[in-house]
Amino acid sequence: MIFTVAIDGPAAAGKGTIARAIAAETGFAHLDTGLLYRAVALRSLAGEDPVTAARGLDPVALDDPRLRRPEVSQEASRISAIPALREALFAVQRGFARREGGAVMDGRDIGTVICPEAEAKLFVTASPEARARRRWEELRAAGLGTSYEATLEEVRARDARDAARAVAPMRPAPDAVVIDTSDLTVAEAVAAALAVVRDRLVAAEGSRRRQG
Ligand code: CDP
Ligand code: CDP
Repeated sequence: MIFTVAIDGPAAAGKGTIARAIAAETGFAHLDTGLLYRAVALRSLAGEDPVTAARGLDPVALDDPRLRRPEVSQEASRISAIPALREALFAVQRGFARREGGAVMDGRDIGTVICPEAEAKLFVTASPEARARRRWEELRAAGLGTSYEATLEEVRARDARDAARAVAPMRPAPDAVVIDTSDLTVAEAVAAALAVVRDRLVAAEGSRRRQG
């Protein structure tokens, strides 16, 4: 079965948390596409040309714990505006989206550019303050000490850059279901997302039956 769940939205909205829950529930494969940009950013910070790094990206690099560092987040957002870099990462994401057995992907442009025909599209968002608080708590737990104010500023800067870029700007696809997680628990956000996916799975099954 080909079935793509596309999850887009700003930093620390809960995309990854929801994507992992959907993958666990459905058995679909999960790809956090932000890791691709972060892996390229890490190499760019080390002095490599980002487009060259994107063309030779090794999947093993996606496990590097340094990818979560705030300076890598900013560099990822900066380099992700380069059209040739997005082009270099397109094929691997496109192939993943339409793989046999189903796929869940989270990022910024999955429902708009990578897989506009995705069977289920979610745009997961939350207030900048709620997202900065979550990200700050994650960073603290990982021993990456920083202030809440600095994290809020970082989140705002990245959102603005991701939404303003000319190529594949972050925005909800016209047919995406928007989930605002500001006042939701993780369990509530996951339940809302799963309800959408189940509904679309039933619809896809129905249209397959009608087509014989
Ligand atoms: O992938 P994205 O950057 O959008 O977010 P994430 O990595 O899933 O992180 C979201 C953080 O907010 C996690 O620490 C979650 O436990 C927390 N959280 C959430 O995801 N959803 C809520 N409704 C409340 C909190
Ligand atoms: O987890 P968080 O939401 O903080 O960030 P991420 O998903 O790991 O993405 C890091 C950066 O990569 C984003 O700020 C975007 O600039 C870029 N990105 C993108 O342009 N397109 C995607 N599909 C995923 C990430």
